[in-house]
Amino acid sequence: MIESSELAALMSARRSNILIDANAAVNVADITTICDAAMLAPNHKRTWPLRLGVVQGDARSRLGELIADIMASQGDHPSKVLRTRTKYLRAPVVIVLGARDGDSGQRSRENRYAVAAGAQNMLLSAEAMGLAMLWSSPATGANDAISDFCNFEHHTEILGLMYLGYAAQVASDVHRPPTPITWLT
Ligand SMILES: Cc1cc2nc3c(=O)[nH]c(=O)nc-3n(C[C@H](O)[C@H](O)[C@H](O)COP(=O)(O)O)c2cc1C
Repeated sequence: MIESSELAALMSARRSNILIDANAAVNVADITTICDAAMLAPNHKRTWPLRLGVVQGDARSRLGELIADIMASQGDHPSKVLRTRTKYLRAPVVIVLGARDGDSGQRSRENRYAVAAGAQNMLLSAEAMGLAMLWSSPATGANDAISDFCNFEHHTEILGLMYLGYAAQVASDVHRPPTPITWLT
């Protein structure tokens, strides 16, 4: 078991970092370890809602082109569309994070929370392995296309696209406000 102070130090050291060396490959064993960490998060009713797509190599361009074409068809700003075409080449690995829908609104929400908890496991796991990671939001309107691209089941919600690789630069520190706790006795 690790000391709680070690866990606190790991959580505190973690930074979202997109300043990644796109040419420094991450080995498959390390990617798998990070993916497995997501599976260790709690989920209600054992629905196992987590879906992951590991996007590497040319698939990163195909993903960017796919999303950019949807953005263009929606009339998004041309500069944003252009940027999206090559966006995923910024890291050697992009992990698509999906949550299966449930059989009610409440279950779908719980599934989403479970996958979000898994995302934090991934971020901490990457930090512990000396890797940089950033959780980015999927483009509006692109959910189903990204889900199909990853061969996820229909109605899978895309919660994020996680850039992963070795840091090219250290991310700047984030000021956190005091923890908002209501103490009740
Ligand atoms: C649900 C979610 C979506 C996010 N989407 C983006 C994003 O689209 N682009 C981005 O640069 N960062 C994104 N982030 C990262 C946050 O901006 C980042 O966590 C925040 O700046 C705090 O930095 P820290 O993670 O180093 O504490 C997202 C984070 C979360 C939790």
